Amino acid sequence: MSQTKILLEESEIPSQWYNVVADMPNPPVPPLGPDGKPIGPDALSAIFPDALIEQEVSAERWIDIPEQVRDIYTLWRPSPLYRAHRLEKALGTPARIYYKYEGVSPAGSHKPNTAVAQAYYNQQAGIRRLSTETGAGQWGSSLALAGQMFGIEVRVYMVRVSYEQKPFRRSMMHSWGAEVLASPSELTESGRRILAQHPDSPGSLGIAISEAVEEAASRDDTNYALGSVLNHVLLHQSVIGLEAKKQFEKAGDYPDMIFAPCGGGSNFGGVAFPFFADKAAGKEISLVAVEPSSCPTLTRGHYAYDFGDSMGLTPLLKMYTLGHDFMPPGIHAGGLRYHGDNTLVSQLYNEGLIEAQAVPQLATFEAGVQFARSEGIIPAPESSHAICACIDEAMKCKQSGEARTLFFNLSGHGHFDMASYDKFFSRELEDYEYPAEAIEEALHHLPKVAQQ
Ligand SMILES: Cc1ncc(COP(=O)(O)O)c(C=O)c1O
Repeated sequence: MSQTKILLEESEIPSQWYNVVADMPNPPVPPLGPDGKPIGPDALSAIFPDALIEQEVSAERWIDIPEQVRDIYTLWRPSPLYRAHRLEKALGTPARIYYKYEGVSPAGSHKPNTAVAQAYYNQQAGIRRLSTETGAGQWGSSLALAGQMFGIEVRVYMVRVSYEQKPFRRSMMHSWGAEVLASPSELTESGRRILAQHPDSPGSLGIAISEAVEEAASRDDTNYALGSVLNHVLLHQSVIGLEAKKQFEKAGDYPDMIFAPCGGGSNFGGVAFPFFADKAAGKEISLVAVEPSSCPTLTRGHYAYDFGDSMGLTPLLKMYTLGHDFMPPGIHAGGLRYHGDNTLVSQLYNEGLIEAQAVPQLATFEAGVQFARSEGIIPAPESSHAICACIDEAMKCKQSGEARTLFFNLSGHGHFDMASYDKFFSRELEDYEYPAEAIEEALHHLPKVAQQ
């Protein structure tokens, strides 16, 4: 039997990040300011350091990873690539299945790959405080970890429903020295406005982003950090795909299809974009973003300019969106609840160069449990979306007899998501299709922009 784990040396951690803009057939659609005109880099300087703003708009193919960041990456990188021999056997499929495991990071997911880079550039710019949002807690814990490493104070606005349901993610952030507040909070104008209208608001990522952005914009000593959606975040995550390419070379194989869970797009972009470079050069490969059918941004959203947050504080981004006032259904436990998507992912999807699938909640948990019972690792519910889509494809291979090479990113472990697993086991979870009327209604709330 071939190797189960395909490992790299620390010296093989990439020394540069890959920027997909260099290989896109069309230039990126620019973000717009409140006047409907493309914004310049200055518009972002109140909340981001210059180095990250440069990366946000860069068209350079390769961007050097600072030595200090690479040094910290050695704590968990290179992450292993696994051949899922046991899952293949359990499914009885001729497909070869591989997964890259990002749950080996201290925070348990891929998010520290960018958290460390963002904390580094902020420290270099003399910033002492960062504000951010978190949904399920993966990003908040990652920034808490990174802030602690660079002596930066971190305040996390955590979506209220998760704040209440995930006490141990909170403890984790506290362990790394961060302050955690339930969002919406009374601390910001955005939070107070939401609470005045909806005193019992469970919160949403869009609301928590508004609070964190508002705080950063109003304090000189504080910048804002975002765990997904922005181009520089996807850039930092490209270490995943770059390592995977080297690992496939070692294994003497190459994926026919890549599956990645997709919320704001950083995990998908991170694993898939380095392979997009090959696709742009003529190689045949399918890159599939997998999202929940309860938050079907790419598969059913509008491709339009919209705000990145609920209160309309951010520039306008051209992206697939369910509307910036999207409130995720309470019944959904699997994460990936952001209303929009990264603009590069959106553009490539719109141009038919990447694919997307939406999967229902119960199927993702079934896939996660099947994976845990064959491969051992208990996946984060977000990651289970990709596992689900990959298993479906492997079963198609079983029918057709085709031995395709399937690859997914196991973006994190689910050790802090056991309450969601419990709900699944006790049949409290159900499938929920986001209603067509809500998608139609969102059209009426989109900002009015001439380019729309
Ligand atoms: C474990 C895990 N996987 C995947 C994702 C999706 O990442 P993104 O929102 O950048 O698409 C998240 C995001 O919260 C996550 O925590």
